[in-house]
Amino acid sequence: MVGRKVGIVGAGFVGATAAYSLAMLGTCHEVILYDINTDLAIGKAIDIAQSTNYSPKGTIVSAAKTAKDLVDCDIVVITAGVPRKSDMTREDLLLINAKIMKDVINNIMKYSPNSIILCVSNPLDVMTYVAHKITNWDRHRIIGMAGALDGSRMAYQIHKIVGYGAGQTKAIVIGDHGQNMISLPQISTVGGVPLEQIVSKDDMEAIIERTKNGGAQIVKHLGTSAYYAPGRAISVMVEAILDDSRIVMPSSVILDGEYGYSDVAVGVPIVLGAKGVQNIIELKLDDDIKEKFKVSVNSIKDGINILKANNFFD
Ligand code: LAC
Repeated sequence: MVGRKVGIVGAGFVGATAAYSLAMLGTCHEVILYDINTDLAIGKAIDIAQSTNYSPKGTIVSAAKTAKDLVDCDIVVITAGVPRKSDMTREDLLLINAKIMKDVINNIMKYSPNSIILCVSNPLDVMTYVAHKITNWDRHRIIGMAGALDGSRMAYQIHKIVGYGAGQTKAIVIGDHGQNMISLPQISTVGGVPLEQIVSKDDMEAIIERTKNGGAQIVKHLGTSAYYAPGRAISVMVEAILDDSRIVMPSSVILDGEYGYSDVAVGVPIVLGAKGVQNIIELKLDDDIKEKFKVSVNSIKDGINILKANNFFD
């Protein structure tokens, strides 16, 4: 692919860090940042563009002044959305972000109609579903970034306990990107060694709990959401798509009968390549995990049902 171009909607911390990560790695030819706060997009684009003077490969980084400038992107990463404020219910937040998502998606359909959408806005799985519903595009072109981040958080917790294997840990997290996410130590490994053989049951429980609260822990310290790990998780997925490298990466995708569910987006291992979702891998889950997966899917469906009850898709 020549002149590969990645659009990023939302130039907040997550979007800008994803842009910076892409520019540092030289993953694509061009990155274009868009934000309703145009000055934010322009300022960050200039700063990141100037950083590329010392990058291994040149990357053109610019800001879109209007949604129209987000044209002919190969991938559009959506990070737009508002964080929850103290006076907002989850339902309020869901409706606000879904509305923002609808506007963003309509622009992507107009100006980058052949792109793959990488959804990062929260609540992640519901927003991924919204992107699919509104575009009506084939489901392989709509992917939610979740497992890439949650897996890196789990790997961090594993390293903190075992003290070795940095960069060699494959930690798998499926389900929703929220309170019902499911860490799978059964199929996680450190340098190929099954996690269950090197971590005690108690430590495993601690790893699972801390992974689930990985995002919230950072919010507690920073007063804002994480962005370095999310930014890197985005760039690793973008790279896999642009290089067609077909890595296995748990991601939120629309199920159509897989795992026994349909009409919902949820995190499962997929093969990520030039088509987007090349393949959905159906893990054989034991009864306990199946039950947890059901709880997780239902929590996402609750969000989707709130949107349906508010006639969002009509
Ligand atoms: C988090 C956000 C980026 O988990 O979804 O930190």
